[in-house]
Amino acid sequence: MSIINKLAREELVDMVPYQSARRLFASGDAEQANGALKRKVWLNANEAPGKGEYQVSSENVNRYPDFQPDNLLNAYSNYCGLERSQILATRGADEGIELIIRSFCKAYQDNILICPPTYGMYAISAENHGAGIIKVPLTNNQLNLDEMAQQVGKVKVVFLCSPGNPTGNLLPKAQIIQAIELFKDSAIVVVDEAYIEFSPEQTSTDLLAKYDNVVVLRTLSKAFALAGLRCGFTLASEAIITLLSKVIAPYPISAPVADIASTALSTDLVKMTQRVQSCNKVKTALATWLSHQDWCREVFASDANFVLFRCIDNTEKTRIFDLLVANNILIRDQSKQMQLENCLRISIGSEQEITQLKEVLS
Ligand SMILES: Cc1ncc(COP(=O)(O)O)c(C=O)c1O
Repeated sequence: MSIINKLAREELVDMVPYQSARRLFASGDAEQANGALKRKVWLNANEAPGKGEYQVSSENVNRYPDFQPDNLLNAYSNYCGLERSQILATRGADEGIELIIRSFCKAYQDNILICPPTYGMYAISAENHGAGIIKVPLTNNQLNLDEMAQQVGKVKVVFLCSPGNPTGNLLPKAQIIQAIELFKDSAIVVVDEAYIEFSPEQTSTDLLAKYDNVVVLRTLSKAFALAGLRCGFTLASEAIITLLSKVIAPYPISAPVADIASTALSTDLVKMTQRVQSCNKVKTALATWLSHQDWCREVFASDANFVLFRCIDNTEKTRIFDLLVANNILIRDQSKQMQLENCLRISIGSEQEITQLKEVLS
């Protein structure tokens, strides 16, 4: 055994890291036989198509940034309607997930609850930290509240994802409230709203005023088309934000990130709304088209920027995935997730990218 493996926490030695879209397929264009570069079509990470144009200043790069830059917190406070004291800017919503687990779960003692099929980073962050994972699977893409009630007292954090990734649907607000009520004396309930801009009226931020045990996660990676920036927000009571601020790195948001993100949040809101509208239009058309294909058994309802569908069998699922890869179009195989046999997920790219995908599959 190598010295590193001897010294490492033993559970990390064989741990499989999160298979992010970029780990599965690194960015960069494909080289063709004639040496020319063929652009890949990225439909596997629920990013938005099209790039924004931002200016960054290098004026103060010799200085550490503020712990929570003013321009960014003011811009997000205006955008979400909460006080600055209820907001923590993080390196993506992923960092929010990690901070919550590290702040509320004692390693090798406490558990989180997840409702699969769901976003993979809840379990990965728990594993990394040594928190246990209790699973209460969704039933017909909704919460199984009876089963969740059995776990009261056994978990410290409950992760709900609405709209869900990879399922795509919103959880009924009444169910979210019931879950919060169930755990109100024993666990934090996190509502991950990474995709909420695609159905903004369904947000749970109003519940922060009524319940102490709620946290809402947000990101600029999806509707704001800023996945490369790594900027997300944890919304919660002042007491929770104070606690998480003890655990987060001292300078989590770099100055260029704060500049770009605050511009996007103040001057580019109309662009964001237009992007959401056009995504929703392309998504509806793609879902209808998929539902007419012989190889498609089921298209899941989507309130987010992607469509999940089930193929008639594994052979067809593999054929479709491989055919797209061979044509430099990358989508995401979700078939290993609980309840999602033969399922693939397509992120809504530009209209042109989705047309290209349909042409390859036709
Ligand atoms: C449900 C969900 N939550 C959180 C994240 C992470 O977002 P971020 O890019 O802000 O870390 C993702 C990313 O795909 C997601 O799908």
